[in-house]
Amino acid sequence: MPDTPQSKARLDTTRLQRIAQAYWESAALMAGVELEIFTAIARGHDTIAALAKVVGITERNAERLLTALVAMTLLDRSGPERNARFSNTPDVQRFLVKDSDRYAGPWILFTKPRWTAYGELSQRLRNSVENPLGAYTEFAIEDARRYHAATYSIGMGAARLFSRSVDLTGRRLLLDLGGGSGAYSIVATATYPGLKAIVLDLPPVTVVANEYIEANGAKDRVSTLAGDFTASPFPPGVDVVVMASNLPQYEPALIRLVVGKAFAALVPGGEMHLIGETLHDDRRGPLSAALWGLNEAVFGSTGLAHTEAEVKGYLRDAGFADVAVHPFVPGVLSRIAGRKPV
Ligand SMILES: C[S@@+](CC[C@H](N)C(=O)[O-])C[C@H]1O[C@@H](n2cnc3c(N)ncnc32)[C@H](O)[C@@H]1O
Repeated sequence: MPDTPQSKARLDTTRLQRIAQAYWESAALMAGVELEIFTAIARGHDTIAALAKVVGITERNAERLLTALVAMTLLDRSGPERNARFSNTPDVQRFLVKDSDRYAGPWILFTKPRWTAYGELSQRLRNSVENPLGAYTEFAIEDARRYHAATYSIGMGAARLFSRSVDLTGRRLLLDLGGGSGAYSIVATATYPGLKAIVLDLPPVTVVANEYIEANGAKDRVSTLAGDFTASPFPPGVDVVVMASNLPQYEPALIRLVVGKAFAALVPGGEMHLIGETLHDDRRGPLSAALWGLNEAVFGSTGLAHTEAEVKGYLRDAGFADVAVHPFVPGVLSRIAGRKPV
């Protein structure tokens, strides 16, 4: 190797060690949520002794966990060494304190049931199971209920963002493909008078969606349709199709199939919005989309991460016009939309 300043830069293992131990951080955050540490702090139990007592762990373990959470910048500490007081940092205070309407604890624990499977990732990559619907085919109503407590806790925020980012004035019928809890439909129909919505999802999920629809007083505006969006016929008269957070779970041929079905179902002038974790066109990131793609090796589907350009291609090839990528949640989700020509 030539003797350049770069080749002389000292390499060390700190970056590799940090990545290798990143799951310790995940575990500390999840334990904080499960033990309701952040909620206890918000309620004033903000010393090691008080926290240990109220959450039922030893003071030594409270000290261990709180020290890690401070180093992770999830908590702040002030005051004397031994009698420090702890406080939640702003995002923790907003999203991880129970009973707040922004509480996202279930979403933080969303991937935990796959914890053991991730420990077997190399075996799973060697012996892959490839079922187009992945683990969804095994879902019972209780699984769907747990899964969508998590998607609802994060999905209502995304749904509000969606309704703020689009103009559905004058639209009459929205088809919410894989609509889960119904969050997008519930918010869109509340935002746009005269708009009704149908949540199409797998049969156990529609049972759960109906519970959220009822709890939000949206029964007169939102209905459900049990089916498989890759196979079931779509209802007629639809002028908006939304498909949110399903992209990496499906391979290109299946997304093309669903986009083609959506195009056929839409009335002329109708619009489709695909919201999902997408890769940049150079496929170098973002990490979140790349990891959701890798997650499909654990989920046992045929899905993988798609680039924004690929998704635009699926819409254009189906016949959509004015296809464009719109900013949604930077680094996490993009919204790719198209319109059916009149
Ligand atoms: C990650 S959730 C997203 C839920 C919702 N769109 C949201 O963003 O809050 C994906 C949803 O797609 C549904 N889904 C996946 N494949 C499906 C299929 N082939 N037919 C119908 N629904 C499907 C799942 O059951 C699940 O409810």
